[in-house]
Amino acid sequence: MKFFIDTANIDEIKEAASLGILDGVTTNPSLVSKEGKDFRKLLDEILKIVDGPISAEVVSTDYDGILKEAREYAAIHKNIVIKVPLIKEGLKAVKTLTEEKINTNVTLCFSPSQALLAAKAGATYISPFVGRLDDISTNGMDLISQIVQIYRNYDYQTQVLVASIRHPLHLVEASLIGADVCTMPFSVIDKLFNHPLTDNGLAKFLSDWKKLTDKK
Ligand code: G3P
Repeated sequence: MKFFIDTANIDEIKEAASLGILDGVTTNPSLVSKEGKDFRKLLDEILKIVDGPISAEVVSTDYDGILKEAREYAAIHKNIVIKVPLIKEGLKAVKTLTEEKINTNVTLCFSPSQALLAAKAGATYISPFVGRLDDISTNGMDLISQIVQIYRNYDYQTQVLVASIRHPLHLVEASLIGADVCTMPFSVIDKLFNHPLTDNGLAKFLSDWKKLTDKK
């Protein structure tokens, strides 16, 4: 299971990277807009912190525009993965980018048929959004099971990158299903470490140890 952080915030990326469990970064136009910085400069900063796949999303919605943006981002560094929306023009562009050996992440996936199309186009990653499905009373994790099964049935190499993760159980369920990657906001990564029994147990170990050392 690879762990990506879903943010464009440099402090969060630095902190997650320092934990030693970070494999990559995903961004999207909303996350970048929140930072209010030039995207090219942000990418340069992220590239210095993380040596792994970094998704940069295009904002064009036509084939030529998507390709133009994609080639510009891809030329920056080999670790840049081009994030493309799951629309017809997007998948046409993914097919071409795959032929050019440029890695892609097809985003805004909400159905197994969409995921099948992305695999046929040769996408490196498919990003199904579990939290946004849960938000409309549809089990997002069922979609992950279906995609993992479909890709196994036909040995598609497209990696299932679980996105729109809202809490640690999403990660646990996705890993039980066998998804390849989870991209999580920093708040979720932070919560993965916590357990009250760990805190209580450690406090007891330390206080018992102190009793011993106080006796000396
Ligand atoms: O980056 C795509 C996805 O992870 C967005 O998540 O929380 O905006 O649904 P969210």
